[in-house]
Amino acid sequence: MYKRLIIYSTTDGQTKLICERIKNLSKFNNETKLIEIDKAKKEDLQPYEVIIIGASIRYGKHSPTVLKFVNENIHNLNRKKSVFFSVNVVARKEEKNLPETNPYIMKFLKLTKWNPYKKAVFAGKIDYPKYSFLDKQIIRLIMLFTKGPTNTEKSYEFTDWSKVDEFSQQIDQILPQK
Ligand SMILES: Cc1cc2nc3c(=O)[nH]c(=O)nc-3n(C[C@H](O)[C@H](O)[C@H](O)COP(=O)(O)O)c2cc1C
Repeated sequence: MYKRLIIYSTTDGQTKLICERIKNLSKFNNETKLIEIDKAKKEDLQPYEVIIIGASIRYGKHSPTVLKFVNENIHNLNRKKSVFFSVNVVARKEEKNLPETNPYIMKFLKLTKWNPYKKAVFAGKIDYPKYSFLDKQIIRLIMLFTKGPTNTEKSYEFTDWSKVDEFSQQIDQILPQK
C-alpha cells in the first residue's frame, strides 16, 4: 500500500482543518499520516510515496519553517510525488485563487527549487474574535481596503470545501492503483 504524509503549517487552525478534510475524505486515509511542520523535521521521508504540504499566510509570508523544511528536503520532495497548497484570504477573490494567479504561492515557489507535482490555493478564514487587539485592527484595515468584511465581532470562513474535496480526490489519483 502507498504511504502518504501530510504536513501542515497553521496559526489559527484553518490549514489543519483543510488537511484533515483531505485525509479523511481520501480512500488512502489509513495509509496517510498527518503531522505539523514542527514535527516534520524528525520524520523520515523515505517511506512516503506522496508528500503533501499545506501552509497558511501571515502578513504576506508562509512560515519560515516551511521554507526551511522544503530547502532541507528538496531532493526527496522533487523525487517523489509532492503537493503544495497555500491558505490565505486574498484567495477569496476569484482572480487570485489559482496557483498561477495567487501572489503568495508564486512568490514562495520562486524562493525554492521545489517543483511540486500538484499545487492549489484555498481561501482561509478571518476569525476576528480570536485575534489580538493589534492583529484585529490591522486585518480590519486590510479588509476595508480590499472590500472584505470588517465586523470584528464575527468570523468569516471563505474556504470552498467542495474545492478541497475535489483536490483530495485529485491527490488520490496521483499514483496508479496497486
Ligand atoms: C495576523 C494575520 C495576518 C494575515 N496576513 C495575511 C496576508 O498577508 N494575506 C492574506 O491573504 N491573508 C492573511 N491572513 C489571513 C490568513 O491567511 C487566514 O486567516 C488563514 O485562514 C489562516 O490560516 P491558519 O488558521 O491555518 O493559520 C492573515 C491572518 C492573520 C491573523
